[in-house]
Amino acid sequence: MTTPTTDTGLQDVVVSTSEICFIDGDRGRLLYRGFDIHDLVEHSSFEETAFLLWNGRLPKRAELESLRKSLATQRRLPPKVLALLKGFPRKSDSMDVLRTAVSTLGLLDPDAADNSREANLRKATRLVARVSSLTTAFHRIRIGRRPVAPRPDLSHAANFLYMLSGRKPRVVQVRAFDASLVLYAEHELNASTFTARVVASTLSDMHSAVSAAIGALKGPLHGGAGEAVMRTLEEIGQPDNADAFTGRALAEKRRLMGFGHRVYKAGDPRAKILRSLAAKACRNSPEPVWYETAIKLHEAVNREKGLIPNVDFYSAPLFKALGIPVDLFVPVIAVSRIAGWTANLLEQYADNRLIRPRADYVGPARREVRGAGRGD
Ligand code: CMC
Repeated sequence: MTTPTTDTGLQDVVVSTSEICFIDGDRGRLLYRGFDIHDLVEHSSFEETAFLLWNGRLPKRAELESLRKSLATQRRLPPKVLALLKGFPRKSDSMDVLRTAVSTLGLLDPDAADNSREANLRKATRLVARVSSLTTAFHRIRIGRRPVAPRPDLSHAANFLYMLSGRKPRVVQVRAFDASLVLYAEHELNASTFTARVVASTLSDMHSAVSAAIGALKGPLHGGAGEAVMRTLEEIGQPDNADAFTGRALAEKRRLMGFGHRVYKAGDPRAKILRSLAAKACRNSPEPVWYETAIKLHEAVNREKGLIPNVDFYSAPLFKALGIPVDLFVPVIAVSRIAGWTANLLEQYADNRLIRPRADYVGPARREVRGAGRGD
């Protein structure tokens, strides 16, 4: 029998090869299919990024047009799913709603049981279109408004903001949100993507894998951090309070949300881009205080504990300035990460092996049962 090696949290354990995403944690670089995220943010859109993640190359003009058209036709939710959203308690956690609704989409998907690449690409496109519509529709329903029908002439980023508020967003808002969607789209074997791949490795279906990934993303050590950052900024209240807050929080050994990263040790490149997007968006918003407070908190935490912000830190003031409700910050990550999850699922199905690690047993040595009721 082989002796198992143990690494709690699988830190730095390589479990597979992948052609999708390269993270250079020492130099703070992130590439999707060989393209640096700075380049993608500058020169491409979320739709192009999704195509890239799925197909390994950027789309030609006609291919991009065809993807845009497919997304436009798939954004409308099936009436049964809309009825379900209307029946949920209005106070439901929006990630719980998303997980349940994606699972329901699986029941209704004509390709649900077909795991061929063609069928999975169709499902991936539908999921990208609909995770956005599910998030915005449930928000409208819970505030007593009618869901807003998507507009075929708007991009994916613009449609999200439009379906959320019912108002056509400004170009500068769409650019900032589209950049955030590009930045959140993929991140190698983070907890939710790994979860999705584990489910797929049993040859279960795409909707099951994505529902499980949504459950993993919800946790505060993963996607849930963004919402927690905003709650922290609200607790601090204003920039002048950041130093005192940091001293208190560190003395109480509190975990500071939006700081630290398992892989990036020289800075999260996404955080740097989001910081400048947040600066611009907050300057033009009625509440610049959130960005100013974030800057002071960043300085204090870095000075006192040497921790650096991760992707979820500056996205919090950015999303707030874009008018996104705080409890939708985590679903917004799913709106983007669905592209990466589905790309990883396509890769997993294409060359599958069951993912089944071992545990190092450290419980009691062999014991014997001597008749019933002996556990008293
Ligand atoms: N606040 C306070 N201390 C921290 C933090 C933090 N945010 N992050 C790490 N540390 C400390 C930790 O207390 C420990 O110190 P010590 O050795 O003295 O006990 C040391 O740094 C190592 O921490 P760890 O938890 O073993 O490190 P990890 O690689 O398992 O953690 C992490 C990575 C992201 C879970 C962690 O940094 C964390 O909890 N951050 C806050 C939550 C967060 O922002 N999550 C979003 C992550 S990025 C996006 C994503 O993956 O979705």
